[in-house]
Amino acid sequence: MTETQRNVILLGAPGAGKGTQAERIAAGYAVPHISTGEMLRAAVAEGTEMGLAAQKFMEAGALVPDDVVIGVVRERLARADAQRGFLLDGFPRTIEQAERLDVMLADGGRGVTQVILIDVPEDELVERLAGRRMCKGCGKGYHVVFDPPQKEGLCDVCGAELYQRSDDNEATVRKRLEVYRAQTEPLVGYYEGHGVLRTAQGGGKMPDEVFAQVEQLLEGE
Ligand code: AP5
Repeated sequence: MTETQRNVILLGAPGAGKGTQAERIAAGYAVPHISTGEMLRAAVAEGTEMGLAAQKFMEAGALVPDDVVIGVVRERLARADAQRGFLLDGFPRTIEQAERLDVMLADGGRGVTQVILIDVPEDELVERLAGRRMCKGCGKGYHVVFDPPQKEGLCDVCGAELYQRSDDNEATVRKRLEVYRAQTEPLVGYYEGHGVLRTAQGGGKMPDEVFAQVEQLLEGE
């Protein structure tokens, strides 16, 4: 792996495997994994003012207002560990967020180096989200069929209990997919226009096979 600075965005529909691939990329490339979904869920769990404001949007499968999310990302990207590269997962999700990210990075003499789109057919997305389980302790993700833990209901890494996200029920998943098509998919054209978009085919492939493609794209192959 090269020493090039990587300011990477992972783009894809809910359930496309952004979090799954982000764990592998962050480990392989030593960049911090910055997930706006995880940061918002942590704020909800802590009951902060921002968390309480975000909760109703998240539970309805809608996007949290741009100003709230942009504030969270601005703060996170200013930290020391993000100065030598970062991996954004779940941000940006609107053209407004993408434009404001570009300005934020340009102010610090930086820019987005690569955007990896993980493309997965819609039927598969619904199946993946319905079977997803998360660890209450360390946050690691599993799938009851595609990536089960060794002991049912318990995390392989820290032994804590697994749970189902409150937005992973079928009605909210359908809404999240609709919101993705309307508000986030236009980013594909935006980043194509900037010449930084690369696509990994994530359908019908196991996470390690998808990662092999992602690695090739990150290495510019
Ligand atoms: P967020 O947490 O970002 O959710 P999301 O984008 O809907 O994505 P997911 O986490 O559901 O899916 P993923 O692509 O990470 O898939 P995963 O790897 O887990 O956002 C949640 C909410 O927060 C939003 O709805 C919104 O309200 C708010 N929010 C967040 N960011 C925001 C922003 N920027 N602006 C406004 N609001 C924002 O994989 C899914 C499952 O599939 C797992 O079980 C996994 O084990 C399995 N799996 C993964 N890869 C494979 C594979 N190759 N084969 C088989 N199974 C697989």
